Formats: sequence, C-alpha cells, structure tokens
Amino acid sequence: MATDSANEVLAAWETSSQYWNKHQALIEKMFASLSRALIENARIGSGQSVLDVGGGSGEPSLTIAPIVGESGSVTYTDPAGGMVKAARDEAERRGLTNIRFHQCPAAQLPFSDNSFDAAVSRLAVMFFPDVVAGQREMLRVVKPGGYVSLVVWAAREVNPFFSVVTEVLDRFVPADAEDEDAPGAFRFAAPGKLAKALQEAGAIDVIERELAFMIEAPITVERFWELRTEMSDTFRSKLKRLVPDQVAAIRYTVQKAVGSYFKTGGMSFPAKVLVVTGKSLTV
Ligand SMILES: C[S@@+](CC[C@H](N)C(=O)[O-])C[C@H]1O[C@@H](n2cnc3c(N)ncnc32)[C@H](O)[C@@H]1O
Repeated sequence: MATDSANEVLAAWETSSQYWNKHQALIEKMFASLSRALIENARIGSGQSVLDVGGGSGEPSLTIAPIVGESGSVTYTDPAGGMVKAARDEAERRGLTNIRFHQCPAAQLPFSDNSFDAAVSRLAVMFFPDVVAGQREMLRVVKPGGYVSLVVWAAREVNPFFSVVTEVLDRFVPADAEDEDAPGAFRFAAPGKLAKALQEAGAIDVIERELAFMIEAPITVERFWELRTEMSDTFRSKLKRLVPDQVAAIRYTVQKAVGSYFKTGGMSFPAKVLVVTGKSLTV
C-alpha cells in the first residue's frame, strides 16, 4: 500500500478519535460480545500479560485489565494519538493501573520478542496498510505457543448496522468502485481471507469462527444517526459534500429505513463477525 494512502487512513482515524471518545461508553456496550469472544479465543486469564493492537477508544484493553488483574498487565497500542489519549483518560477514570499505553502502528511494535502471553485486536486489522507485516509483529512479540486473536466484520449484507445507512447514502452520493483489498471495514469479510493472511504471517493452528451477535443499546433513532455519521469517516466526508436539504432528506430516509431495528424501545441490530485465532510457533 502506498505511503500516501496509509497516511490518509491514519489521518482519518486521528479525526475520528474525538467521536470515538465521545461515544466510548456506547461503543463499549454495543461491541461487548466481541471483547468477550477475543478473551475466550485467546485464552486470557488472571496474571497474563496481554497486547491489544489498534485499541481505539479502549477496547478490548479496558475489559481485559480487570481479568488479568494486578498480577497481570495489558499493553494498549494504537497509531492515532487522539485514540491513545481517549483510552488513557478512560482507564484513569476507572482507576485501572495495570494498562500501559503506546502510540504505534501494528507493523512497528516497540516490544522485545516473546513479551506477551497473548495478543488481540478488535475491528482494527482491516485498517493495517500491510496486514501480514502487522500480524507478523504480533506473532513475534507473543511467547511461543501463545494465542493471537483478531475480530473483523463479516459481509456487509449480514450487518444492517452498516448496510442500511450505506444503501441510502449511495443513492444520494454514488459510491466509488471498491477495492476489496484496500483498508476498510469489510476488507476481511470473505471467509478464509484473514485466516490465510494470519497463516502467511507464520501462525499455526489457525481457526476461524463466525459469531452472530446483537448490536444493542438503549438509544433513539436520532442518536443512532448521530453515532453512525460521526463514527465513520466515509459518512462524514460524503455528508460534507451535500447541501443541508440533501442531508435532511438522507437523515429522514435513514431513520425510516432503520425503524424496524428500533421496535423494542432501543436499538437492536443482528450482526456477524469473524473471529480468527492462531498460535505463535513453538520453538
Ligand atoms: C474500528 S477502530 C477499532 C477500535 C477498537 N479496537 C474497538 O474495537 O473499539 C480501528 C482502530 O484501528 C486503528 N488502526 C489504524 N491503522 C492501524 C495500524 N496500522 N496499526 C494498528 N492500529 C491501526 C485506528 O487508529 C483505530 O483506532
């Protein structure tokens, strides 16, 4: 991937960090099952030393810290300074003292070989400019036989949390042709694609499983609109190109289109991810 476009991806995350900070509590609630899946798949328990790559506004680091306890530790990493600040501030608010914070990309982890019992990454590997290089680094810093576990979105069509808004937006601002290998939420939606990349990076015993879950939160359709349009760089930049009347029309159409996911007094979207787990080679 060209350096220019890698820098663009990072700049977009830097801008997004203020919104991920703003919606931190909601994001934690909506995707809690994904942190649980990583903890289970990477066999994380008390006393372990765990690496989180692309931790964003703090997950799964903030959930893992109380599990590993004071005899263990979590090392949070993310290349976007705004994300690191958001996560660090939240850890301080919670009085968590066993998390260290580092601003760095996956492909340049500033840690010695065999430093961690396990490494995890939630919804971030699809944004690495060089996925195999990033995963190779994760495997390098995990002790022989330790687990590396990653979670990515399954197909857009089975994730209405994304697709319903995208379909409406595309009607107003036609989407550019998509490069399925470019950084983006659905880059690893094809079954087997991330597992193959993890194997190529040197992992053994690679397993992929599909996880169906519900994205739920006690929020209104209006709050959903705010959340979706602020969290996504694509939506923010598309909406910026439109006049207020067009934005109002899109907002109205989206709110109608998602109505069936707000029937129980809150938001409830079915969703699917892939959890891909492998082991660092035993020497
Ligand atoms: C969708 S967010 C996920 C954040 C968090 N893990 C979560 O699940 O809430 C993607 C994160 O990947 C990070 N990221 C982007 N490029 C990266 C890279 N090269 N290495 C590591 N993380 C990266 C972004 O800064 C962002 O925080």
